[in-house]
Amino acid sequence: MPQTATLAPTIVVIFGGGGDLTQRKLIPALYNLRLDRQLPERFAIVGVARRQIDNESFRQRLRQGVAWFSRRGIEDESDWNEFAATISYLSEDVSNPASGLVLSTCLQKIEEEWGVRANRIYYLAVPPAMMKPAAAMLQRLGVCRDCAHDRLVVEKPFGRDLASARDLNQFLGEMFVESQIYRIDHYLGKETVQNILAFRFANSLFEPIWNRHYIDQVQITVAETVGVEDRGDYYDQSGALRDMVQNHLLQVLCLVAMEPPISFDADDIRNKKVDVLRAIRPFRPEEIHRVAVRGQYRRGTVLGKAVPGYREESSVAPDSTTETYAAFTFHIDNWRWHGVPFYLRTGKRLPAKVSEVSILFHSPPHQFFPSAAVESWQPNRIVIRIQPEEGIGTRIQVKQPGTRMLLGSAEMRFRYHEAFRTPAPEAYETLLLDVIRGDATLFMRADQIECAWQVVTPILEAWESVPATDFSEYVAGTWGPESADLMVARQRHSWLQPTTAE
Ligand code: BG6
Repeated sequence: MPQTATLAPTIVVIFGGGGDLTQRKLIPALYNLRLDRQLPERFAIVGVARRQIDNESFRQRLRQGVAWFSRRGIEDESDWNEFAATISYLSEDVSNPASGLVLSTCLQKIEEEWGVRANRIYYLAVPPAMMKPAAAMLQRLGVCRDCAHDRLVVEKPFGRDLASARDLNQFLGEMFVESQIYRIDHYLGKETVQNILAFRFANSLFEPIWNRHYIDQVQITVAETVGVEDRGDYYDQSGALRDMVQNHLLQVLCLVAMEPPISFDADDIRNKKVDVLRAIRPFRPEEIHRVAVRGQYRRGTVLGKAVPGYREESSVAPDSTTETYAAFTFHIDNWRWHGVPFYLRTGKRLPAKVSEVSILFHSPPHQFFPSAAVESWQPNRIVIRIQPEEGIGTRIQVKQPGTRMLLGSAEMRFRYHEAFRTPAPEAYETLLLDVIRGDATLFMRADQIECAWQVVTPILEAWESVPATDFSEYVAGTWGPESADLMVARQRHSWLQPTTAE
């Protein structure tokens, strides 16, 4: 199957090759890119992990991953076989200072066969404790020194607080230059998340009203129906704030709130996002209980199925106080947003898997319709649906058909699948292709990561120092704890229920 001849020959080395992310996301994404003929003509994947298994068993595991988790599955066995032939597996223990020889020999062999120095992409899909040893091994082997050819992709979590993120940035910064480092946040690869930029800045319609003069509040919801699945070990040390807010939700907030960049250059865009993070009003310890709430799910029913409580999940401490739900009121102190609350919430075991951004507008300054006409009146809003049913809807007031003047609410909507018949790529497809092309626009720069940690650190500290006296449980399958409703009710606001359920 011919691939893109214009892209340089590339080797992707995945550390954590035996892990879930590789099986569920990375390989399905690379396989779909291959089916779409987007990969370089000369392309190889090398999985690296500690376990001793042979190439064939490794490929079998990946094949299963594509069959189960890819949006397309395996339609044609010969396509898969051709792709599988580009994959090999190496057993290396990165924590062993003598390791790495097998890897460097393998890279050399592939490049000798191709007769070129390939682009090498090292993907660190390893637990946080293994990040430094893996990076140090690359440094020791001298296989990631060429800024023009060699790239390092770092999966989240990037640190567990500001100090550890700084430490990791510094560690990597001593070995690689910033332009080689691709810190991944898969939300930035989602089609609708990228569309926030297009929607805001490719249309002259919205930008004039995208500010405190017209916007009353912004709500960002990322709701999941799943619990912690088999990731109890990781999640119990992490919680919703670290797992979702520090990265995904703050990135979405940045795109909604940023100023227009002067160009599509990676750094121009990232600079504007950093400005937003820097303008977020720091939380004062005495107000944290009013502007940051947390909760944990207990037993309940999600999508018609009985599910255990968080503390009953495997690898979770029976007295865990880790939050599985978090909600916040952020304020952005700049001219555009002064006084506009940004409400963010995320949780596991909620009634629907849905991510959306709702922009709620002020009421008209003067209401002259008869009071009977406006009984069901609602302020205008724009809802950006990130998933599922990706799209954008605008709720407007219209006259209801009939002989009397009665207002009703109607939606003008754009849905991706209706407007464009082609299916959108998965986030990891977009992001991996960007790394292959060397485009860092959708990746996090060192200062961005640190600014995001700076925003959440006071909350982390407050929550850790006062273990959960204000901790609210919620029944699995409900929209989170009552304290989150109270938080917005204090501003005379309420959460919008997402428009459709799973
Ligand atoms: C990951 C989190 O980054 O994002 C998971 O670690 C979460 O806990 C996942 O389930 C959600 O991603 P998506 O793409 O399903 O919204």
